Amino acid sequence: MNQYVTGAVIRGLREKNKMTQLQLAQKLGVSDKTVSKWETAKGYPDITLLEPIAKAFRISVTELISGNTIQNANVSANMLRSMFYICPVCGNVIHSMGEAAVCCHGIQLTPLVAEPTDERHMIFTERVEDEYYVRIEHDMTKEHYISFVAAASSDEMKIAKLYPEGSAEARFKISGIRRIFFCCNRDGLFSIDPVKGIDDRESGYDDSQERRELEKAAGMLFG
Ligand SMILES: [Fe+2]
Repeated sequence: MNQYVTGAVIRGLREKNKMTQLQLAQKLGVSDKTVSKWETAKGYPDITLLEPIAKAFRISVTELISGNTIQNANVSANMLRSMFYICPVCGNVIHSMGEAAVCCHGIQLTPLVAEPTDERHMIFTERVEDEYYVRIEHDMTKEHYISFVAAASSDEMKIAKLYPEGSAEARFKISGIRRIFFCCNRDGLFSIDPVKGIDDRESGYDDSQERRELEKAAGMLFG
């Protein structure tokens, strides 16, 4: 986190708002030369100007100082766009339905970007009655482990906390699950679409709409 608003942030916000230095200066009651000084790191705006600057850009003072502006439109619209913030110091997991300015242990956290699974982080998803039984093939030592598994539908998010020395598995009711996330404390966040991306082809039967249609067509062609 920046300790104070920087010239680069002011310039970035000014350009984003399609304002000239003069237009911003007039809103704040300073000269355009002053704005130019801030933007070229030759001076800082006085603390009494932080609120007017934030107001000019229609953001909060916190966002202005952190340099992290938040743009959420209708955050509750889709749980699949969820963000996970994880504190690298204590491992705290913060789930958010949209972008947020999140701090833990004095660190401004950025949302983790979920990667597709890789050969060291394989997920096996099996349907057991009305549940997904999810297993991740991975170490569960104190140093390197899967810290949580989460299942998202469009309107629900379920998070299962996992612990070192425990097993890397969880169960989720299938209803509407569209995305499964899991997090490795060292390698970060991974996600799969459980309908399209089942790693274990033998136990995970693919019964997507696409598959059913193909089977139907095959049935008509070949009896
Ligand atoms: Fe890992």
